[in-house]
Amino acid sequence: MKFVRHPTGLLRSRARRRLFAMWLAATTLAGVGLAQSRSQSQSGMPAALSADCAARISINAPSIDIACLRAAYAGPAATWPAPHVDAGVAWSELAPLPKKPPEPVDNPGTPAKIALGKRLFEDPRLSKSGQIACASCHDPQLGWGDGRSVPFGHDRRPGKRNAMSVAMSAYAGPLFWDGRAATLEAQALHPIQDATEMAFDGGALEKRLNSSDDYADDFTAVFGSRQVTVPRVSQALAAYQRSLVPRFNRFDRFLDGNRKLLTDQQLWGLHLFRTRARCMNCHSGPALTDNGFHNLGLHFQGRAREDLGRYRVTGDPADVGKFRTPSLRMVAKTGPWMHNGAFQDMRGILNMYNVGMPRPKPAAGKVYDPPFPATDPLLRPLELHKAELEALTEFLRTL
Ligand code: HEC
Ligand code: HEC
Repeated sequence: MKFVRHPTGLLRSRARRRLFAMWLAATTLAGVGLAQSRSQSQSGMPAALSADCAARISINAPSIDIACLRAAYAGPAATWPAPHVDAGVAWSELAPLPKKPPEPVDNPGTPAKIALGKRLFEDPRLSKSGQIACASCHDPQLGWGDGRSVPFGHDRRPGKRNAMSVAMSAYAGPLFWDGRAATLEAQALHPIQDATEMAFDGGALEKRLNSSDDYADDFTAVFGSRQVTVPRVSQALAAYQRSLVPRFNRFDRFLDGNRKLLTDQQLWGLHLFRTRARCMNCHSGPALTDNGFHNLGLHFQGRAREDLGRYRVTGDPADVGKFRTPSLRMVAKTGPWMHNGAFQDMRGILNMYNVGMPRPKPAAGKVYDPPFPATDPLLRPLELHKAELEALTEFLRTL
């Protein structure tokens, strides 16, 4: 029993005491569980998990039976304990990222186009001041974000939202925290024109880059003529960003069958992520996102920090306070987190999920237009122990 911790104060309630008693009873039977969990079927596949083992890894407890847990995750993903996902939620199984990310047929990422996109991404002449490049806010050394809660752009004007990592943008759709750009090709002009980012405009950009021979050879090689146009710039930037998808990492290799690559604690974290922590309701599939929009209660409606998110794009009152579920790939490197960059610490995020996220209430007697939203019902108190939150944090580090 490697991860035994003293049960937290939460254990005082009667239900907790019952669960704790179940857990104690289960640990005394550990020998039996071990023997059962090692049994193999003829095909070399693990036999169906014993009921005893299944019970032992499903209870709310400050420790877990590692042998049972290893047995539960020894086979292909289809045999793993089913994720705790509510009825009606569309989810897909965790899986390795494809070797090549999806790309539109009309913008294949050839090596020359990707190289041109990189040059443009790092070129501050794409901004009015000539001082801010895409890479200023999407820095490879800072998880392709900028390491700040919100960025500084043109004239050091602060932005309103956290600069998200672009590493997984090939799998994001629609783009931005509020989904206001449909494709990566359509997205590029937004930061160039945004007054708090690069504060430039497409026509002036074309004029500036066409006035010298700097890009003539590269554009000719990729597009057949030297003309710099906004659609071409957007295509090259999009192709480059699709090439940034993280390489087949330890977690991909684990999913691919090398089950030894997660430590006991990380595997426990994966198990919690799938089951009692309920993360798979929104973060599932190879990119660990449903690309959907949810209200986590971080909208501050009616207050100085208000950001109504998706509602500002669709005008639909059902979208008030909703933001896009980000991919959790590389998440340990992309802080500060959330659309407003308000979380500097992963444990802070997990503590918030553990209490079901904030449930802000409308001020008494105040009329809200659009109506004040309720926090997503998929979020609810999880009652995870400290050791379980630690395991979850360690699991997130492997992504
Ligand atoms: C001043 C900082 C800044 C600069 C410069 C900047 N960005 Fe961003 N970027 C952001 C912020 C902030 C967001 C999130 C904005 C939002 O969601 O409203 C973002 C979001 C994105 C996204 C969306 C990713 C996703 O998963 O949805 C992409 C792609 C992107 N930027 C690419 C670029 C490109 C290409 C450039 C250069 C043309 C650029 N950015 C320049 C700050 C910046
Ligand atoms: C109801 C859907 C939902 C569930 C369930 C959910 N998330 Fe999220 N997650 C989101 C959304 C939406 C955001 C972005 C919200 C925002 O910025 O306002 C997010 C953001 C995050 C972030 C910050 C990522 C970043 O790049 O800023 C982390 C980390 C995270 N979730 C982890 C988890 C974990 C771990 C669980 C399980 C305990 C979980 N999530 C459960 C929808 C969900």
